[in-house]
Amino acid sequence: MRFPPHFLDEIRARLPVSQVVSRKVPLKKKGREYAGLSPFKVEKTPSFFVNDHKGFYHCFASGEHGDIFKFVMATEGLSFPEAVERLAAEAGLPMPKMSEREVEEEDLRQRHYALLDAAAKFFEEALRGPAGAEARRYIDHRGLKRDTVGAFRLGFAPNSKSALKDHLAKLGFKLEEMTLTGMLIHGDDIPVAYDRFRNRIMFPIADLKGRTIAFGGRALDPDAPAKYLNSPETPLFHKGHVLFNAHRARQASHDKSRIVAVEGYMDVAALTEAGFPECVAPLGTALTEDQLKILWRMSPEPILCFDGDSAGRKAAYRAIDTALPHLRPGTSVAFAFLPDGLDPDDLVRQQGAGAMEQVLGRLKPLSAVMFERAWASGDWSTPERRAGLDQQLRTLTQQIADPGVRGHYEQDMRRRLAEAWGMPQGQQRSQTAFTARHPQANRNSNRSYVTPRADNPWREPGAGKGSRGGTFDRRGPGFPPPRASASLLQSGLVASERGRPTNREAILLRAILNHPWLIDDYAEAIAALPLVSQPMGRLRDEILSLHAGDNSLDSAELTTQLEKAGLTQVLDLVERAITHKCDRFVEADAPNTEVDAGWRHALALHEQQVGLKRALEAAERSWHEDGSEEALARICDIQRQLHVIDTAEGDGIGGERGVR
Ligand code: UTP
Ligand code: MN
Repeated sequence: MRFPPHFLDEIRARLPVSQVVSRKVPLKKKGREYAGLSPFKVEKTPSFFVNDHKGFYHCFASGEHGDIFKFVMATEGLSFPEAVERLAAEAGLPMPKMSEREVEEEDLRQRHYALLDAAAKFFEEALRGPAGAEARRYIDHRGLKRDTVGAFRLGFAPNSKSALKDHLAKLGFKLEEMTLTGMLIHGDDIPVAYDRFRNRIMFPIADLKGRTIAFGGRALDPDAPAKYLNSPETPLFHKGHVLFNAHRARQASHDKSRIVAVEGYMDVAALTEAGFPECVAPLGTALTEDQLKILWRMSPEPILCFDGDSAGRKAAYRAIDTALPHLRPGTSVAFAFLPDGLDPDDLVRQQGAGAMEQVLGRLKPLSAVMFERAWASGDWSTPERRAGLDQQLRTLTQQIADPGVRGHYEQDMRRRLAEAWGMPQGQQRSQTAFTARHPQANRNSNRSYVTPRADNPWREPGAGKGSRGGTFDRRGPGFPPPRASASLLQSGLVASERGRPTNREAILLRAILNHPWLIDDYAEAIAALPLVSQPMGRLRDEILSLHAGDNSLDSAELTTQLEKAGLTQVLDLVERAITHKCDRFVEADAPNTEVDAGWRHALALHEQQVGLKRALEAAERSWHEDGSEEALARICDIQRQLHVIDTAEGDGIGGERGVR
């Protein structure tokens, strides 16, 4: 929804900044201004100032600065449109009218929300009714309290192929709507569409406004083919962009200055019950870049909580690769590892909330886990191998886009290496003596040289406080080092091109530059847009921050500001994107409806492509690892799909080639 500037001005005029701010921060009048303790930094003396006259707040401790909209976005984790909606209501202003097409689309969306809400109610009632007896027993047995069941709107999908379908039909919903929202299984070879979720405990999945957009269902039957089943991708639900429980957790995260990501729905429910409402979970996949960005809007250093076993460690390593390019000064992730064999649900049930609090108090910084992974991936007993380790760490460090953070990582890795090599000499000698006496120990290719390793190379020599939330652990990780090949770590990472934008990236950004109103309508999608090219990422960030400062900038003003910010070359790059007939929406004179439709289409293709490219990297990595036929087949399949998307762009010329 695009907001007319006068509408935003009217809200600003009606709501003094001090009024909006003072709900969160107690303020004292100081001359023409108000002062208070910064909501962005822990501090004892006030460095947070509000000036109603200028309509701004400024935080000298953190450098944060903005108007009422930005304040609400920053302290409550709302998107721009959500902040406008909230403050308009507070100011007593009705929201501006939408165009006819917008009204139609909105109506359709509203019907889908209504359908999903009706489904959630149906499941809730089924859980209370006679068919839900076994499900209720199961929930009791898992130890979930009634309040939790109510708060999460847990329900039960009866063991029937048509219970939900018939119910929704009675309420007047069409079959087509039921399939579009993912509630029915349908297909060319399926004569009659039927209920997707059967005999499952149902977890409604909500968007940031708390509206149900999908479901996750846990099988009651231990022999069911999938323990958890999620809704498919639908117009309302893109699982990589959503975190389970985010709408409840974001308020809690602000109050508690931390957010914790765990693996499962049950973990979130159990943790909330145990007094940790500040937790979310991805939806059965590894944490995506977009999900990380949602977390970063809640806390500068989200805690990623993983199992202590090898699967948990692998997941943590994947999260490192996802996070590295996006690290910023003060913005990172921290890791918490659970005791072996327990998930958060098991832990709080068996050992209580205190045990979980301990886990969350023993954080490991990303830099430590990154070093630990590289260290554990090989044997560093010869100078050549050690040089290989240096190189591996350098390659990883280079993934960090922000030069300041990158510099500190280089230093940190050097320090860790120096520490690791500095093992006690005595230990080294005695082991060397063993190899000398048993030369055959070195014969086979799997030989293991004596590794110069300190007792605990990944301990935190300079460990200190995290900026928010917790203390980093000074002790070891509590799990033995795994053995993965060094080449595994390098493939894929080395291959990614960090500079050159793809054509579609450039097109998407050019559309934003020519039609800045897209920023209001798609703020979240733009913020979450996966951009392979670093310059494009910088451009996007700068556009968003300029827009947050003044959302009435038109295309020309925006471009001028971006040039002033030193992005002229990046803008040139965007100008050089090749457009086809179907990309007319990008042009400045394209009608808004065309821009909107074209933008959505290009966005969807782009996201699909980025997902496939990631899958390709993963497949290539596993092919490097085991060389299996299966991996090869997968690579071919993904490449075929990529080709299809590629040619979906216009007539296929220029397709996914980079911008020259
Ligand atoms: P887990 O297998 O660790 O289950 O899956 P859990 O959370 O401990 O669940 P309970 O305690 O057995 O009930 C963790 C998460 O992985 C996804 C789900 O999101 C789940 O919450 N998952 C798991 C699936 O999507 N499908 C599956 O078949 C299994
Ligand atoms: Mn579990």
